[in-house]
Amino acid sequence: MCGIVGYVGEQQAVEVVMDGLRRLEYRGYDSAGVATRDPDGRLVVHRKAGKLVNLEKVLDADTPAGTLGIGHTRWATHGAPNDRNAHPQVDCSGAVAVVHNGTIENFEALLAGLEERGHAITSETDTEAVAHLIEERYAGDLAETVRGVCKDLTGSFVLVVTHRDAPDVVIGARRNLPLVVGLGEGENFLASDVTAFIAHTRTARVVDQDQVVELRRDGVTITDLDGNAVDGETFTVDWDTAAAEKGGYRFFMEKEIQEQPLAVRDTLGGRLGADGLLHLDELAISDEDVRGIEQVFIVACGSSYHSGLVGKYAIERWTRVPVQVEMASEFRYRDPVVGRNTLVIAVSQSGETADTLEAVRHARAQKAWVLAVTNTVGSTIARESDAALYTRCGPEVAVASTKAVIAQIVAMYLVGLYLAQLRGTRDPDEVRAHLHDLQQIPDLIAETLTRMGPIRALAGEIAEAKRVLFIGRHVGYPMALEGALKLKELAYISAEGFPAGEIKHGPIALIEPGTPVVVLATRHALSAKLVNNVQEVRARGARTIVIATDGDDSAAPYADHLVRVPDTKSLYAPLLLIVPMQVLACEVAKVLGLDVDQPRNLAKSVTVE
Ligand code: AGP
Repeated sequence: MCGIVGYVGEQQAVEVVMDGLRRLEYRGYDSAGVATRDPDGRLVVHRKAGKLVNLEKVLDADTPAGTLGIGHTRWATHGAPNDRNAHPQVDCSGAVAVVHNGTIENFEALLAGLEERGHAITSETDTEAVAHLIEERYAGDLAETVRGVCKDLTGSFVLVVTHRDAPDVVIGARRNLPLVVGLGEGENFLASDVTAFIAHTRTARVVDQDQVVELRRDGVTITDLDGNAVDGETFTVDWDTAAAEKGGYRFFMEKEIQEQPLAVRDTLGGRLGADGLLHLDELAISDEDVRGIEQVFIVACGSSYHSGLVGKYAIERWTRVPVQVEMASEFRYRDPVVGRNTLVIAVSQSGETADTLEAVRHARAQKAWVLAVTNTVGSTIARESDAALYTRCGPEVAVASTKAVIAQIVAMYLVGLYLAQLRGTRDPDEVRAHLHDLQQIPDLIAETLTRMGPIRALAGEIAEAKRVLFIGRHVGYPMALEGALKLKELAYISAEGFPAGEIKHGPIALIEPGTPVVVLATRHALSAKLVNNVQEVRARGARTIVIATDGDDSAAPYADHLVRVPDTKSLYAPLLLIVPMQVLACEVAKVLGLDVDQPRNLAKSVTVE
C-alpha cells in the first residue's frame, strides 16, 4: 500500500504535497518522491529511498517552485526500495510523471512491447509502463490518454499523473484501491485518504471504480473510462487534523490504545434503540433474508482474523448458526461451499486489504450475502459488500492495530445479537441484558488502562526473551493469537499463541527455563483446565504472566506475574484482556528502540495479494 497526493492550486505545491505525504507515511515508507511543474514549464522530479525525511533533505537543498504537483510514499511491491524504483516514475523524455498505488498485473507484457518500440526502461517497477504508455499516446488531452491506458491495464491501481505539456491539470484514476478528491477554494486535492488534505479542506468526494478525475485549480471533472461524466456525492470529513495527529503521545499506537474506550462507545453509539434493542439500519439485508441464513463465514487477515475468531464464539452461542472463520487469503482458493443461504462477514480496518477484498468478490459471485465490518467509510470492501457496519474508531494510523481490533470485536457481538434478535434465538430481554453489559465496556477498558504499571514493568524482561508463548482457552485463545501477533510485529520477537489445551501436544517442547508464557485467564468453566496447563508449563521452567479478571484467583497461585483487569462476562473478557498485551508489545518495542508506529517490513494496509 502506498500514499499518494496530488495538488493544483495557488500554494507552493511541494509544501502541500509533502505535508500530505507526512500524514500518509503510515501507508508505506520504503521510498518517496514528488514531481512539480515549475513556472518555466519544466517537470521537476525528486525521489529518494528510505523514509520521507530522506526526501525532505533533498528538497531542502533544491526546493522546486510551482503550484501543481504530485507525490508518493511507497510500500514496495515490484522492485527493491531504492531511488531508481521510487515514484514518481517518468517516461523517456521526462515529460510524464506517474505515481501509483497497487499492482499492474500485465506490466511485463506492456514493458516488453514498450521496449520493442524503443522505450528505455530504467526501473524494476510495474508503474513505469504507465509513464511510457502515456508518453506514446498523449495527443493533447491528458485525461483521455489516461482513460485509454487504464483500459489496457489489468490489476489494481490508483494512478496520479502530470504531464509537462498539460500545465493546469493533474489526472487521477482508480481501480480497486482508494482515491479521494479534496475540494477547496481555488485549489483541489487528490489523495489516498482524507488525512492528507483535511488541513486544507474537509469537503471530499470518493472516486469510484474505473473512474478518471481531472483536477484543476478551479474545478474537478470525473468520468468513466469512456469519458462519460459521472455523478458522485461529496461528503464532509468530520475528523480534524488533531484527531489524526498524535495528541501529545510519543507514538500513534499509544494514543490509539488510549482511545479504545471512545472507540467502543462510538461503535455502540446510535445502534441501540429506545426499546433497548439493536437497530442496525445499515445492515441492508432484509429481515427475511437474515432469517434464511444457514451458515456464516468470517473472512479476514491478521488481527482482524482474531476479531473474527471471537465473533465465532458469540454468533454461534446466540444464533446456533454454524460459523467458520477463514484466513481471507485461503478462502477463495479452497472452493468453499457458499451460496444464497450464507452470510459472509468481511472484517477489515482499512477496507482495502486485497486478500479480504478478493474473498468478498468470490463470496458475491457465489450469491452469498456479504457484510463488511470496517473502519473506513467508502472503502473498497465496504462498497463491494451488500452492507457495511462501520467501527467508527477514527483514523488508526499505527500499523499495529489496537482500537480497531477492539471495535471489531464489539461489532462481532452486535452482529451476533442482531441475528439472534431477528431470528428469535434469544429473547429480547436477554438481548437487552447483553447490550447493557456492552455499554459498560468503555468504562472497564478505561479502568484497565489505569492498571498497566505491572505489565509495563515486564517490558525489560520480555525484551530479552528468545521466544514468548501465549495461551488461552475459549475466547482466550483468539486473544493468545493476538497477543503473539502484537509482540511479533512490534518487537520482532518470536511469539506464538496456542489453545492452552494444545500446548501439551507439541508446543510444550519449546519451554525452557525462563521462557515467558502469557496466560489469558477468562473466568470460565474451563478455568480448572487452564490452571492445569499453567502448572504443566511452569513445571518445565516457564515464567508465567497471568492476565486475569478481578475475582478469578484460579491461576493466581501459579503466576510469576499477575496482571488484573476488571471483571466482566467471560464472552466479553477479550475486550479487556487484549489491552495489557497491546501495552506490553508497545513497551517492549520502546525498550528495544524500535519504530512503534511503522515496524519494519509492514504497512498499514496490504493492498496486494
Ligand atoms: C494488525 O496489527 C496487523 N498490522 C495486520 O495483521 C492487520 O490486522 C491485517 O493486515 C489486516 O488489515 P485490515 O484489518 O486493514 O484488513
